[in-house]
Amino acid sequence: MWSAGTLESSPISSDDESYETISTDVLIVGAGGAGLRAAIEAFDKGAKVLIACKSLLGKAHTVMAEGGIAASLGNVDPSDNWKVHFSDTIVEGQFLSNWKMVEIFAKEAPERVLELEYYGALFDRTKDGKIMQRPFGAHSYRRLCYIGDRTGLELIRTLQDQVIKRGIDYIDEVVVTSIFKDPATGRVAGAMAIQLRSGKLLLIKCKAIILATGGCGKVYAVTSNSWESTGDGISLAYRAGAELMDMEMIQFHPTGMIFPAGVRGMLVTEAVRGEGGILTNVKGERFMEKYDPKRKELSARDVVARSIYTEIMEGRGTPNGGVYLDIRHRGAEYIKKRLPSMYAQFLEFAGIDITKQKMEVAPTVHYHMGGVRVDPETTETTLKGLFAAGEVACGLHGANRLGGNSLSDLLVFGRRAGLYAAEHARSAKIGSISEEDIDKEISRILAPFKVTNGSNPFELKERVAETMWKYVGIVRNEQDLRKGLEEIGRIRLEAKHVQARGPRAYNQSWEACLSLWNMLIDCEAIIRSAIERKESRGAHTRSDYPKKDNANWLVNIVIKQKDGQMIHELVPVPKIPPDMEKLINTDEILVWQQQEKREQLLVRK
Ligand code: FUM
Repeated sequence: MWSAGTLESSPISSDDESYETISTDVLIVGAGGAGLRAAIEAFDKGAKVLIACKSLLGKAHTVMAEGGIAASLGNVDPSDNWKVHFSDTIVEGQFLSNWKMVEIFAKEAPERVLELEYYGALFDRTKDGKIMQRPFGAHSYRRLCYIGDRTGLELIRTLQDQVIKRGIDYIDEVVVTSIFKDPATGRVAGAMAIQLRSGKLLLIKCKAIILATGGCGKVYAVTSNSWESTGDGISLAYRAGAELMDMEMIQFHPTGMIFPAGVRGMLVTEAVRGEGGILTNVKGERFMEKYDPKRKELSARDVVARSIYTEIMEGRGTPNGGVYLDIRHRGAEYIKKRLPSMYAQFLEFAGIDITKQKMEVAPTVHYHMGGVRVDPETTETTLKGLFAAGEVACGLHGANRLGGNSLSDLLVFGRRAGLYAAEHARSAKIGSISEEDIDKEISRILAPFKVTNGSNPFELKERVAETMWKYVGIVRNEQDLRKGLEEIGRIRLEAKHVQARGPRAYNQSWEACLSLWNMLIDCEAIIRSAIERKESRGAHTRSDYPKKDNANWLVNIVIKQKDGQMIHELVPVPKIPPDMEKLINTDEILVWQQQEKREQLLVRK
């Protein structure tokens, strides 16, 4: 068996262009929930699998889905079923989701949760021993299966155990830098990667690749994401010729920590509101009564985030620039049992005892609904042999993701990615990779070592994040978006001469150069799409186009490369067939049904 240790060796000089070659059937890039679930499935279907994780195995943004995994088990509310989950997801995604993907998701989520339990996940229990479920924003029923406020962590632990048990190969601290195609067939044939701890180059030959790289939260200054989330998968797919979609749809989680500065953006789980947490402004007003009198704190994420933003911008924020979140009325014992991580997090990082004091919170970038365009059933991208699952993929969540839907997403579509990638690998041969492509990629990734007096990648990354936060935030307008695009363009010019300092092994400045280049592609796609969508829908709020415009904008914005340029197309959202449409529970469906113009919407360029 090929193991991580194989790659450890003596230091490498910065201009060493040699590489080690590895072969596998299915290469999985990323080891969060989607990557691990995909690995299990592909392996069980007989494929030779290699997982490449950018960080250490088990360290993934999946753990930041703390409050639960959404699946209509109906353990607490017996009326719940997949049809209601389907409806909630479509409605709260503001009709931008691919209905087929939502159908598969809602139907398969319960099975995947039970399977996770079978794999060993220790869920909290109802009195009669079933998996416990709690309420979350905009879910019609108590649907979130949970393990205190550590659900993502338990999910990762469980899947990781299954991967280790099977002896599936993985390499950690490895950054995949490019995807190679067979020049004859145009299909995926392999990838180039660097091993961070040695600085060694790796050529990984394979029949299929599954992207499970998570999102691009780090393109924003305030985020719940950690250093790995630089949108590498989006950039890898785009550069290889696959299509991106809904890139403008960034989820601002309503509640992140705001102080001390070092933890700004750290997630405060929605489970706090699920367990009865109340939001108030500096005047003591429970402001959600004004914005969504029915659902209040358990409104959809985009609504709560915008409401908090409005309170702060209109001068009703706390002295630290947030709002209050209060769970004290639940009592110390209850809080410590249901929200142990939140209790520890506030005590340790902010010196706040949440059983006795209010929390201060503000929105933080948490998730990307946009990403790589995939087939709803197979998860294959528009590039043959390239699959994508989890946050990096797009189509399920539309314009706004429901909390808890990400964990079930990555189980449902992680499994499907593994299944179909293994199937693809069974019938495909390992393709050939041209020497020219390999040489070009090696020159590209080693270029930062040849630069002298170059720009500092860390500074440029910070500028990217500040630019996106300032100009591409919760509420957007054309003028700001254009300023953001111009600044990203200026940073791109400086990034051409970015410099990696020091030796290759464990060189963080080298990794920063490579991820900066990826981030710039992600940002350009996000801003171009945000400029294009001239309406407000879900997470995309335009102050210059404050209304939702179903007549013109029931379209997905698709981004791709043409002649080296980033271009976009507007593609109508796939029409929901009448038998599925019947399940949707909202007045808005009437708008959808009556929208005759939609039928005439051709692909607009
Ligand atoms: O608030 C949370 O626990 C996050 C959940 C999610 O993003 O699904």
